[in-house]
Amino acid sequence: MISFHNVTKTFGSHVVLDEASFEISPNELVILNGISGAGKSTVVSLLIGAEKPNQGTVEVDSVVVNDMDNDMLQLYRRKVGVVYQDYKLLPAKTVFENVAFAMEVCEAPNELIQERVPEVLKKVGLLSFAEQFPEHLSGGERQRLAIARALVHNPRLLIADEPSGNLDEANVRSIIDLFKQLHSEGATLLITTHDPLVHQLMNGRILTLAKGKIE
Ligand SMILES: Nc1ncnc2c1ncn2[C@@H]1O[C@H](COP(=O)(O)OP(=O)(O)O)[C@@H](O)[C@H]1O
Ligand SMILES: [Mg+2]
Repeated sequence: MISFHNVTKTFGSHVVLDEASFEISPNELVILNGISGAGKSTVVSLLIGAEKPNQGTVEVDSVVVNDMDNDMLQLYRRKVGVVYQDYKLLPAKTVFENVAFAMEVCEAPNELIQERVPEVLKKVGLLSFAEQFPEHLSGGERQRLAIARALVHNPRLLIADEPSGNLDEANVRSIIDLFKQLHSEGATLLITTHDPLVHQLMNGRILTLAKGKIE
């Protein structure tokens, strides 16, 4: 499903990925491990086409992401759910509106939005928070909102960048349970983390990113 082939990514003279290669099969659960600054978020950016490699190819479902034009990228990103490290929530929108917005930008009809948003909020346990604003949510609730938004298009690929962030253990456990449920429903998961608790709870295949290489 995902294939990085000899990918090199540099920022100025800083080589973040050095001819790195790895593959992820459909419905696999993979943990991308690596210390802070190793390049985990860069791998996520390359996967969603937000950054382009200097060399090599990033393929998803046999399509080369780094060759896509903007229109293709927009369509492609609807099929991939991403939970960003900093959540990227919209502070002036409610919980409901944050999720709805992801559908509005895809010109989803209003009836579908009214049906789908409560469904995903229920899935992450946030239905009763629908009218709250992000600033009134706890860290765990914000994380779950970011997950709800990533799920709204029913993605077959879910990418979560350091999802345990600053969460306490109970919240980490509840988010891992949610990821495991999505995995059992057929989604392919790529979770970046250097949190030992996530490693312990997830039981995924571990890829380690160090010195620009992936093992
Ligand atoms: N847009 C950018 N411009 C310059 N340097 C960057 C940029 N994005 C990431 N980097 C650098 O690349 C390295 C890897 O960053 P990142 O992928 O965020 O690591 P991680 O997510 O593993 O902590 C870091 O040294 C970071 O400073
Ligand atoms: Mg990061």
